[in-house]
Amino acid sequence: MLTALVASSKGGCGKSTLVTQLASHWAQQGRRTAIVDADRQGSSYRWAALRPDGVPGVLGLEGGRKALQKLPADTERVLVDTPAGTDEGDLAPYLDQADVVLVPVLPSAFDLNATLGFLERLRGIGRVRRGKLPVALVGNRLKPWTHASQDALAQLAEEAPFPVVAQLRDSQAYVLLSALGKGIFDYGSEQVRNQQQDWLPLLRWIKRQA
Ligand SMILES: Nc1ncnc2c1ncn2[C@@H]1O[C@H](COP(=O)(O)OP(=O)(O)OP(=O)(O)O)[C@@H](O)[C@H]1O
Ligand SMILES: [Mg+2]
Repeated sequence: MLTALVASSKGGCGKSTLVTQLASHWAQQGRRTAIVDADRQGSSYRWAALRPDGVPGVLGLEGGRKALQKLPADTERVLVDTPAGTDEGDLAPYLDQADVVLVPVLPSAFDLNATLGFLERLRGIGRVRRGKLPVALVGNRLKPWTHASQDALAQLAEEAPFPVVAQLRDSQAYVLLSALGKGIFDYGSEQVRNQQQDWLPLLRWIKRQA
């Protein structure tokens, strides 16, 4: 079983998007995939419940820490979605269970500066410090042709204690498909090809850690 914890102190940075898109990818690969939604908003739990016939199912569990113990024994991939505003103390029970931590970051000064503090605190956690729990940053909602996105990525690379392993473009496909309980990996069409490519470095990074 591989457990990915998706977390950030910042709201709206793409935690639930990361969780649901990765879930659709692994489900499409035939992996038994579960989402544990520790956020009371229940975005990714509802997304799992919404998945229509014709796409592989994802088990959605609400309620965090206890839900982790309720996972079927044959679960292969687990994604933990967490609420904004959590600090490393709130995350402790999930950090213990996680194999990797993913932190989405938006390319704006406010988001970057708020996230850097969270990353520093994450770096102080025992398993992270000892190199036992890898952490990756994922640039999200990037408009690669803008200075703002380029400057934000450069600042992250310079100041963040963890690597930026993928850059996801800003795309309405995420918004539209999420509302249907789907992800970009549920489609083979040309329209989402570029978006799918954006995820490859992250998928490779996760594979290497596992
Ligand atoms: N790459 C993207 N392109 C376009 N829209 C995006 C992208 N990533 C996320 N969004 C949209 O931004 C909004 C916030 O994303 P999401 O809900 O994943 O963030 P979150 O970190 O889970 O938020 P919260 O802190 O409220 O739980 C959503 O409407 C989502 O569809
Ligand atoms: Mg969310």
